[in-house]
Amino acid sequence: MKKNKFYITTPIYYVNDKPHIGHAYTTILADVLSRYHRAEGDEVFFLTGLDEHGQKVQQAAEARQLSPQEHCDDLAPRFLGLWEKLEIQYDDFIRTTQKRHIAVVQQALQQVYDAGDVYADEYEGWYSVAEERFITETEKDSGSFRDIKKLKERNWFFRMGKYQKKLIDHIHEHPGFIQPGQRRNEVLGFLRQPLGDLCISRPKARMGWGIDLPFDKDYVTYVWFDALLNYITGPGYLADQKSFKKWWPASVHLIGKDILTTHAVYWPTMLFALGLPLPETIFAHGWWLMGKTKISKSLGNIVNPLDLIDEYGVDSVRYYLMREMVLGQDANFTMESFIKRYNSDLANDFGNLLNRVSGLIGKNFDGFVPEHGKMTDEEDHIKEEAVRLDPKVKKSVSEMRLDGAMEDILQLIRQVNKYLEYQAPWKVAKTDLGRAGTILYTATEALRICAVHLFPVMPFKCKAVLDILDNAGKGTQWGGLKKGAKLKSHEALFPRLEVPKQ
Ligand code: ME8
Ligand code: MG
Repeated sequence: MKKNKFYITTPIYYVNDKPHIGHAYTTILADVLSRYHRAEGDEVFFLTGLDEHGQKVQQAAEARQLSPQEHCDDLAPRFLGLWEKLEIQYDDFIRTTQKRHIAVVQQALQQVYDAGDVYADEYEGWYSVAEERFITETEKDSGSFRDIKKLKERNWFFRMGKYQKKLIDHIHEHPGFIQPGQRRNEVLGFLRQPLGDLCISRPKARMGWGIDLPFDKDYVTYVWFDALLNYITGPGYLADQKSFKKWWPASVHLIGKDILTTHAVYWPTMLFALGLPLPETIFAHGWWLMGKTKISKSLGNIVNPLDLIDEYGVDSVRYYLMREMVLGQDANFTMESFIKRYNSDLANDFGNLLNRVSGLIGKNFDGFVPEHGKMTDEEDHIKEEAVRLDPKVKKSVSEMRLDGAMEDILQLIRQVNKYLEYQAPWKVAKTDLGRAGTILYTATEALRICAVHLFPVMPFKCKAVLDILDNAGKGTQWGGLKKGAKLKSHEALFPRLEVPKQ
């Protein structure tokens, strides 16, 4: 089998506050996709990390009366701790204050400078403190920018406008480059206006927390020019040519739609200037909302993922987030929908199927998985559906329809529960133990296959299921259940949650 390489990234998050459910979401999604690819035998490189420079971080540090570096060092473990709790299997964790990254940023700046793509200019315009960038008159008039002031400054500019046509051509020639299609159209719409150049410096006199420009020590690098380069630092742009060649270009940059322009416009033009190939796909997902508003640090309506994990377990949080968001669209986070989803899919369907088969096999076969006798059409049908699940899930995952993949798996689980109700092996066992064995074998094997497919999303619980099934095989082919396997006794996989009274 040909081994594909799969290099996936998340945004590097600002360390201006502790992580919230939005950060957890993108990181879990990257983890789930990585795990599906690993399970298919692909070689995976999964990069995540922190964006530690810039004004937001500087201000957050000031507010805590810490130096920016102390502030970052204090907050970084909170992200790492959360990723550990969430079972995130990243391959590299980058912090933009690391030496390896500073070296890459300075080298890249020098290279674009030497190539004549950077110039100094005096610029007067509207500056959004919140967005940390100059905005156009149109943007100012849109009213959607907070903290605006007039600013006149000498700065360094990157000739981004020069690459506008090349970028438009690239987008047209690579339909999968910006996904979903709606975001691609947005970017093409944005590119109908003249692109202009990008201010890539901040005078130290005003904002000193950043990477020194190698060609002008009075300035630090604009945080986005710094941050985006993390995607090449990770695989070893300067440090390890062999590794860099192997992994670059990235397969997918996963981002939220809030940072589409920086990724789909700034970043590709930077790569053009550096003479590097563009990532295969930039995928922008929607927002988790509470009511109509985005969950965000600045709004303070954050849902603390740690609280949810402690209360309901990490796997159910991962499942909910993957199942409830249609990739590309916004989704609403509510405790009601969380509990509903948990009870219906996890407790009533998945957990219940395990309880049934292990209970019945315990009672009728002393806990030993029975051998199946002759399979009837009913069994063949379950088997066919279980076999069909493999290509279905693969297709959904490759099309970034994780909710669809979850639904496909849960449908089979529901179908097996129905099959059990209809076949009633508890009755059959009284007269025909062999036939009851065939039914229970079929249901258990289908359960095993579903647990294998759900594994990337719920690694803890699915491992538990496979353990209960006596270390059952991890393949998705029919027949992985060991003959004579002895089921282990267990607690309810997902105890039902009480619906909180209003
Ligand atoms: O923008 N719903 O960092 P950031 C879904 N440092 N996803 C959300 C979300 C929500 N309500 N809120 C945040 C930055 N996210 C830069 C990135 S990359 C080179 C630099 C997720 O801390 C989503 O992935 O503001 C979003 O794009 C990201 O967190 C923004 O994180
Ligand atoms: Mg943000």
